[in-house]
Amino acid sequence: MVEAFAEMNIAVIGSKGMLGTDIVSIQGYTTLGLDKDSIDITDQDTFSVLDEFKPSVVINCAAYTNVDAAEKERLLCSSINSKGVENLVQYCKKKDIIFVQLSTDYIFDGEMHEYFEGYDEINPINYYGKTKAEAEKIIIDNLSKYYIVRTAWLFGKQGNNFVKTILKLCNEKEEVRVVNDQYGCPTYTKDLAEGILKLLQQPYGIYHITNEGSCTWYDFALEIKRVFKCDCSIVPCTSGDFPREAKRPKYSVLKNTKLTPMRNWKDALEAYRDEIQ
Ligand SMILES: NC(=O)c1ccc[n+]([C@@H]2O[C@H](COP(=O)([O-])OP(=O)(O)OC[C@H]3O[C@@H](n4cnc5c(N)ncnc54)[C@H](OP(=O)(O)O)[C@@H]3O)[C@@H](O)[C@H]2O)c1
Repeated sequence: MVEAFAEMNIAVIGSKGMLGTDIVSIQGYTTLGLDKDSIDITDQDTFSVLDEFKPSVVINCAAYTNVDAAEKERLLCSSINSKGVENLVQYCKKKDIIFVQLSTDYIFDGEMHEYFEGYDEINPINYYGKTKAEAEKIIIDNLSKYYIVRTAWLFGKQGNNFVKTILKLCNEKEEVRVVNDQYGCPTYTKDLAEGILKLLQQPYGIYHITNEGSCTWYDFALEIKRVFKCDCSIVPCTSGDFPREAKRPKYSVLKNTKLTPMRNWKDALEAYRDEIQ
């Protein structure tokens, strides 16, 4: 747990990604945003930028996040999501720096139709999930001062996400088919960013941070249609109707048992609409 919170130097790696952008935009903290041009987590020679800033906390938002492409680009995915994290872990261990790692609901198999708590057994069913699970193990085996933040189904201003995809498809088509047999927790990156910085006042460990509530992708799309006042019709389908490179867990709802709950994802979606419109 961090005591002198306001005086900490916080390095945010992956600062031009969807989540990293929102973390560095929060006022009241001394953050240094580091994008891929400033630091490549697969190359320890680029870590001198950290030596200069002397962080007391490193938040790693950098990742290979294309879940389907990961099935083919295995080496690249693993070099960033596992080996890259190992490099950061070694650095933080040597310098006694607190490490915050973003992880995912895709470390679970989602077979049981029950929500997952922090201590539940992990069993990834796609390659991306496997590399994120490996990263968790590296952290747990090597560090004591760490926060692993598992989150899910992110939407934010920066980059692509499901909300933007549905809005685009609704513009182009009269009917959009959306999978109705995968359950998860849509999460607004602005809420998550605040949650991560507040987490630094909590004991070290594994945390599940998402907006409250859960739904299927179909339910999520219906709500997007309502909130953004789209004209298209949203039609439910199954995962079988929509084959993808990577398998997805059927039920990967993350249960938060440790923190004050964040607002419901539907309220967060309205706030997101106000942010981007
Ligand atoms: N998106 C989701 O729905 C979701 C769900 C659960 C968990 N998560 C986790 O949450 C975290 C943040 O996700 P996000 O959606 O914000 O990711 P994102 O938008 O894809 O951003 C990731 C950032 O990492 C950078 N990066 C890639 N390789 C790098 C390297 N070798 N060194 C340094 N930077 C590198 C990328 O730069 P380039 O774009 O230039 O390659 C990008 O700016 C990730 O750990 C992800 O696994 C995401």
